[in-house]
Amino acid sequence: MKKLDMNALDLDGKRVFVRVDFNVPLKDGVVQDDTRIRATLPTLRRALDEGARLVLASHLGRPKGRRVAELSLAPVAEKLSDLLDKPVQFCGETVGGEVDNLVGKLEKGDVLLLENLRFYDGETANDADFARRLSTTAEVYVNDAFGAAHRAHASTVGMVKHFDKAAAGLLMERELHYLDLALSSPPRPFTGLLGGAKVSDKIAVVRSLLAKVDKLLIGGGMAYTFLRAKGLPTGRSLVEEDKIDLATELLAESGGKLILPVDHVVAAEFAIDAQRQILPIEQIPDGWMGLDVGPDTVSAYAEVIRSSKMVLWNGPMGVFEMEPFAQGTLKLAEVVAASEATSVVGGGDSVAAVHKAGVSDRITHISTGGGASLQFLAGSKLPGVEVLTDA
Ligand code: 3PG
Repeated sequence: MKKLDMNALDLDGKRVFVRVDFNVPLKDGVVQDDTRIRATLPTLRRALDEGARLVLASHLGRPKGRRVAELSLAPVAEKLSDLLDKPVQFCGETVGGEVDNLVGKLEKGDVLLLENLRFYDGETANDADFARRLSTTAEVYVNDAFGAAHRAHASTVGMVKHFDKAAAGLLMERELHYLDLALSSPPRPFTGLLGGAKVSDKIAVVRSLLAKVDKLLIGGGMAYTFLRAKGLPTGRSLVEEDKIDLATELLAESGGKLILPVDHVVAAEFAIDAQRQILPIEQIPDGWMGLDVGPDTVSAYAEVIRSSKMVLWNGPMGVFEMEPFAQGTLKLAEVVAASEATSVVGGGDSVAAVHKAGVSDRITHISTGGGASLQFLAGSKLPGVEVLTDA
């Protein structure tokens, strides 16, 4: 069911609460990556253009109900102010007298960012009273925090019942549009490119995608559990012994859709300066480990991607943080970007890889959700989406 979007709401002169996901990396009080903040700008600008008084709230990290100075959103308010090119007020509280005071003074076009929601136990506990107190800050509720939509917390679920309507922000809408396109009516051929260290993190996604894709190309550490399931030697590569039976089942169920690497970059150690060589996938010296897909795999996967109409990518193909093992991931990032397919990339590492390859502007949609996009792709409902008003 499609959800109501913010265009359907009258925002003029209203206090509008926007739940954003400003869970961004900080170092010494400086935002290290502002992708998630930038991604909300269309929503915030639209609301401001329409005369809203904005009250923004987000979590940052996992402070577990305590005030942790390093996890204050104050630096984010500064960054947002630069990006919006206007003042952003910051309130050191999230609910209570000081918040009420500042909210009461907001004029049309003003922006107020509240302190980290997770400094209060009530947020993650989805406490009814905390949710009610949050709701008193505004007359209109918009959720643009796709990255937190898999959490049933006070700001994403509990407070919603205090509003007549709850709408998706423009980022939330865009995320749902592309991920839903992949799962419900993908242009075909539809290819999944799945990597990352562990199969166990992605079992539900593999199952769900096998039912939707034409081909599922596997790379990264997770490939080795499948390779072992096929009886191939894997040396000291990352194999989840307790998932080998499951990998055997998935291979059998996949009807030939699940494709594994044909060669790999193997190394004597898990180290940037380790001795290394490129070998066919059937070969690995005793005690060595596979740390990247090889060039023949890149060519084979590139051919499938080039003939696809839609590509969904989650998880790197190798240990791309180490330059000698980054080629598989970076080359495939270029291939995905150059293809004519509708391309959707999700998951922190693959998004970082796309940035590192310098091709982000040629990807159709880069998801801001890590856990949220995995849950969506696994076919699970997201509580923060379910609770929004149906369109
Ligand atoms: C994320 O970074 O995936 C989201 O902001 C959610 O964060 P969480 O896993 O701490 O709930």
